[in-house]
Amino acid sequence: MPKVHIVGNWKMNQNLESVRSFAKAFEGKGPFNCETWIAPQAIHISGLIENAGPIKVGSQTVSEHEKGAFTGELSPTSLKDIGATFTLVGHSERRQYYGEGNEVLNEKVKSALSHGLKVIYCVGETLEQRESGQMETILKEQVSDGLRGITSKDSLLIAYEPVWAIGTGVVATTQQAQQAHEYIRGLLSELGLESKDISILYGGSVKPNNIDGLLECPDIDGALVGGASLDPESFLALCQSGDKH
Ligand code: PGA
Repeated sequence: MPKVHIVGNWKMNQNLESVRSFAKAFEGKGPFNCETWIAPQAIHISGLIENAGPIKVGSQTVSEHEKGAFTGELSPTSLKDIGATFTLVGHSERRQYYGEGNEVLNEKVKSALSHGLKVIYCVGETLEQRESGQMETILKEQVSDGLRGITSKDSLLIAYEPVWAIGTGVVATTQQAQQAHEYIRGLLSELGLESKDISILYGGSVKPNNIDGLLECPDIDGALVGGASLDPESFLALCQSGDKH
């Protein structure tokens, strides 16, 4: 059984003060049975690591290069150096606003894994793609191209985030989410990965009041949470749900 992961994606939110007060509010909480992870803005990774208690900290993206003349990029070795545990790769906002396609994302996945970071590789279809019956084709491309050449399930997690559910308040139904997760698990097996051991997280408008139904689905092993991870009480409630499953 894959381990349940509750992962906060703070995106370009939180400032020094709110990061500190989040950490303070979390003092003495945990340990949790589930994995509790947060990806703050890169600039806050070190500060959160020092004060995060049971929460493991990671980044929202990573460079495919190890080091060098790549202005503005985040080196996987430097992330590892400062104690980051994981990185997101291929979040839909990176795909949409920064033009990251499956090929470069594949480089990023490989680079992060080879430098000892765990990777949450994000996939998901837009509403237009779903409505025109292309969901499976899109997921298949994202999984098989983005994970090409990956031969070990170790340190790899997947997040299924339908783009139409991100930040919209429209959560996928448990049936829609379960169906996509099951399909993705099949794709991972086709790649030769031991998919039953890979945590597949659902993301898209997850809140304390809808997480339980999602976590009850057999192929949903956790959640990647944006908005509802910003508030310590709400993140705590999500972690407590994670503990029950
Ligand atoms: P949301 O974001 O929970 O605010 O919908 C999820 C995500 O983008 O990872």
